[in-house]
Amino acid sequence: MIGFSRTDEILTCDGVPLSAIAAAEGTPVYVYSAAMLRHRYRELDAAFGDYPHAIHYAFKANSTRALVAELRTLGSCVDAVSMWEVEVARKVGFEPRQIVFDGVGKSDAELESAVALDLKAINVESHRELQRVEAIAARMGTVARVAIRVNPDIDAKSHPHISTGLKVNKFGIPIGDVQTLLPTFKARRATHLVALHMHVGSQITNMDPIRGAALKLAELAHEAQHAGIALEYLDAGGGLGISYDGGAVPSFRDYATAFVDAIRPTRLPIVVEPGRSIIGPAGALVARVLDLKPRTATSEFAVIDAGMSELMRPALYNAFHLIEPIAARIGGLKQYEIVGPVCESGDVVGRDRMLTPLDVGDFVAICDAGAYGAVMASNYNRRPIPAEVLVDNGGWRVVRRRQTLNDLLALEA
Ligand code: LLP
Repeated sequence: MIGFSRTDEILTCDGVPLSAIAAAEGTPVYVYSAAMLRHRYRELDAAFGDYPHAIHYAFKANSTRALVAELRTLGSCVDAVSMWEVEVARKVGFEPRQIVFDGVGKSDAELESAVALDLKAINVESHRELQRVEAIAARMGTVARVAIRVNPDIDAKSHPHISTGLKVNKFGIPIGDVQTLLPTFKARRATHLVALHMHVGSQITNMDPIRGAALKLAELAHEAQHAGIALEYLDAGGGLGISYDGGAVPSFRDYATAFVDAIRPTRLPIVVEPGRSIIGPAGALVARVLDLKPRTATSEFAVIDAGMSELMRPALYNAFHLIEPIAARIGGLKQYEIVGPVCESGDVVGRDRMLTPLDVGDFVAICDAGAYGAVMASNYNRRPIPAEVLVDNGGWRVVRRRQTLNDLLALEA
């Protein structure tokens, strides 16, 4: 069994008891399964069959070095959204031509290093940004490789905070404006249009918006080709959702097929930028029960040592993460409001959960926390960023040590 499953009633990661990891490394601690990470990457890769494609793993989902190094050995490339992510990618050994650079607000300093590095593409999000890249490249006496991020005005039907493809969202350039922009590339001396790009949202579980957006992207690619622009590839973004609650979600094959079917007529290779669907199910956040107290006639509060400072998703998006006791106690299910230690009423990790009885000191796992978990952790309440552990080959190693108060105070006068 790879990933998180029960062996002798104990929740394990690739067969290693999470209780052993928690006892040795302390809590809260993020635990990742290397086998699951490899499995998911390979499954997505295989889903494209022999259609030319490149997987540019979205660093924003989780860029802990050991994890992205593992992805690199599998053949992954990179989607970065800041020059800091680009630098991490470079330190891990990725080549500039394996990196696409996204983001709605890139500083001049970021654009200058992106142009100097000659990345695979700078995905420009506005006409003004294109002009800035053009000016920087001209000043450097070079030609910058750019892609246009298209806003297809499509509703991804995901959470409003993570839907990005509507006209009212801040991302990309509307299709009509892209059409006006395309012919101008023939005359541009310092930018070379290598691709069109889109990303309509994250945690998408309905393939219709993906199909619709991919078709619009393919149509635009035809227009570009007719305008005499030789695009190198189409970048369809990330966005495939995972099942947080056990419900059905589209498979990697559904996802890949939607893109391949729409894009095949253009004969262009496909780039995708998945984050969550690769790393999400490969990670869990392990915490300890600190306190139990009555809440209503039928439920109790279980206060755990991980909250919105370690995993922001429930508080920020009302996101659901399965929570499981690591060693289930005997007894009927009880209702718990699982809350974090942070001084905010909104610091609820799981509402109205029916679990086997908990006791103070028990360990619980917050599942599917590999994506947008550790990367979004904060020091609110002066809480140190948790340690991260990678389970591989029947053992584990700490791939990011727990932050200390001294780490934090070292930055302060
Ligand atoms: N490409 C672009 C341009 C993006 O903006 C994103 C995610 C991705 C790729 C990767 O998307 P994925 O395959 O992971 O869905 N913090 C939120 C998610 C924010 C996603 C932002 N953009 C959450 O915890 O749900």
